[in-house]
Amino acid sequence: MANNDKDAPNRVDGILKVTGQAKYIAEFRLPNMAYGYLVPSTIARGKILAIDTVEAEKQAGVIKILTHLNTPKFAQNERDKSHRPLQTDQILFSGQAIAVVIAETFEQARFAARLVKVSYDQQPPQTDIRKILDKAYMPGQARPIRGNPPEAFENSEVKIEAEYTIPIEHHNPMELHASVAYWESNKLTVYDKTQGVTMVRNHLSGIFGIPKEDVTVLAPFVGGAFGASLRATPNVFLTSLAAREIKRPVKLEYSRRQLFAAHGYRPYSIQKLRIGADRSGKLKAILHETFNNTSSNEDFGENLVGISRTLYACPNVFTESKMVKTDLQTPAPMRAPGTVSGAFALESALDELSYKLKIDPLELRLINYAEVSPEDGKPFSSKELRKCYQDAARKFGWEKRNPEPRSMKEGKWLIGWGMATGTWGAGQGTASARITLKTDGTALVESGTTDIGPGTYTAISIIVAKNLGLPLEKIKFVLGDSSLPQAPSQGGSNTVSSVGSAVQACSQIVLKKLFDLAAGDFKEAAFEEVKIENGKFISKDGKSLSFVEILKKNNLENVSETHTSAPNTGERGKYAIASHGAQFVEVRIDEELGIVRVSRVVEMTASGKIISPKTAHSQEMGAVVWGIGMALTEGTEIDHRYGKIMNPNLAGYHVPVNADVFDVQTAFAEEQDKIVNPLGAKGLGELGMVGIPAAIANAVYHATGKRVRDLPVTPDKLL
Ligand code: MOS
Repeated sequence: MANNDKDAPNRVDGILKVTGQAKYIAEFRLPNMAYGYLVPSTIARGKILAIDTVEAEKQAGVIKILTHLNTPKFAQNERDKSHRPLQTDQILFSGQAIAVVIAETFEQARFAARLVKVSYDQQPPQTDIRKILDKAYMPGQARPIRGNPPEAFENSEVKIEAEYTIPIEHHNPMELHASVAYWESNKLTVYDKTQGVTMVRNHLSGIFGIPKEDVTVLAPFVGGAFGASLRATPNVFLTSLAAREIKRPVKLEYSRRQLFAAHGYRPYSIQKLRIGADRSGKLKAILHETFNNTSSNEDFGENLVGISRTLYACPNVFTESKMVKTDLQTPAPMRAPGTVSGAFALESALDELSYKLKIDPLELRLINYAEVSPEDGKPFSSKELRKCYQDAARKFGWEKRNPEPRSMKEGKWLIGWGMATGTWGAGQGTASARITLKTDGTALVESGTTDIGPGTYTAISIIVAKNLGLPLEKIKFVLGDSSLPQAPSQGGSNTVSSVGSAVQACSQIVLKKLFDLAAGDFKEAAFEEVKIENGKFISKDGKSLSFVEILKKNNLENVSETHTSAPNTGERGKYAIASHGAQFVEVRIDEELGIVRVSRVVEMTASGKIISPKTAHSQEMGAVVWGIGMALTEGTEIDHRYGKIMNPNLAGYHVPVNADVFDVQTAFAEEQDKIVNPLGAKGLGELGMVGIPAAIANAVYHATGKRVRDLPVTPDKLL
């Protein structure tokens, strides 16, 4: 399957999106709505001594200013140590929300926000984890040690020992965090930019002490999230509180600058990696130790080492993950969290090893191919990684590669070819869905999931259309509403496997119910024997009856069923379950300027069954673009003297744009996998990014002979 499936369905919400009919949170307007604007702290650590709102309150249009002095206090539950604004005078990080100005218009609120005067008891912040690595700690349990890693490393014929660093990176989705909230007596309704409407509903119900049924959270469209909205962001609490205080609907939106202190970030990480191999290339030992920063109030650990335990066959493995407290906001999952960072280290180190051994980097991976799970010897439920390597290499023309660094030039351009492996889980959560077949011949599908952009509207509609035997345009999928049947937050690339499994099973239940209503008409025909086509049951003897006719005959307006699907943990537990991929990258480097262009990428992915070919290819291309950003441009700069982010904007924090993206070819090695779930789909999204930063850094080495171990690979590091 290649990315030219012209006949595959288009994105079902595409027209709504490109014509502006898809409404994002800050676009919702309610009668009598007021506007909130945040005041951020200007220090990173200390206490508020005084907060003076007199001048601000005098301004035109200002309705109320909330600070910790006049805000009701809400009990925090023991397990949730997340920062909740306006509850105390404590400052935990720079940019923390310390007041909300509520006014008649957005401009009035923003103007008055600048007139709030604050004085602080300022303490020196510590935001540089390199200075305090000796304070690193390991929460929770150590991972088991496989074999005897130190000895095996010591005795290895060839060794690599290297340190890799990745800076803080901020999710920068197009849509900013925003909420619109209103109360009707004790019932709260909130439009919120989130990856999980149920999660936000539970959060608000917990804080305000009201039943879950009295909170409705809506997120019909989400303009990107990347993990930034897997937890409730402070705006949803602040907006709901403001609406309660002034007894009017309130809208609050973060600015791009404020967003950098809104939801966390990929933490800063340091990885110390030691790899030992014999002369034939067989891995003997992997020792992978990592550090990442967290906040002063919460432990946020990233799993950077999982990939070192599972990707290659290796008898001796030691991994350890530690964290260091800093005066920064709590980090958050971001775009293939942990795994992409670990892969940058492991896949760079394997590349370094390949040069030392004079073995082709692809060949080295095949030598160490894990036929079964290296962790516990379980068989893989499916694993077409070998096919990914081989087909992608052929497509890329890898056999024409001259292994010598700096050997491939074209005019002023140094050309480099690099490769890496990707892997991701294939998780499934418990999800519910309702399907209602109607007399107008359409099916309404409802589930409280979200679509943050990957194409959930499309993929789920395709599954239902196929299972109900209806044309795609007869399916209407409604999501992003906490009052619908419950589904997990959209995260971990799990939505197709979770919600897709629910709608597939629910489709069968609806059909069976319809068939039973018509059983008399079909004489002997059993449900299993009838064909389902274009809204009709067709029996072997050619008798056909449409769904609509059955409903009408029975005087029914519809047939509606709700179903919950859970993962088959028993069966899944017998196997190692993962998705895989191979990535080949060409870079062109202007040596005088140090500019790196990713001129060509071939990405081949094995992730079970592909449900929606077009959006699947878009997922993989998007993942490559994420990887280009991580490899070459993204990094949050902090002035450690003040604990302050210096580039909280898109001018200083560079994400790739169209001009940075050239030829990206994606392809899938489909797997038949009935273990992972009945759909056979493992999910897509994060997987496609995992190997890309390493593949790019490896290509940069091949082009220049310079090994860059600290991301991003900016021109200054190549000059
Ligand atoms: Mo993702 S980091 O699972 O939103």
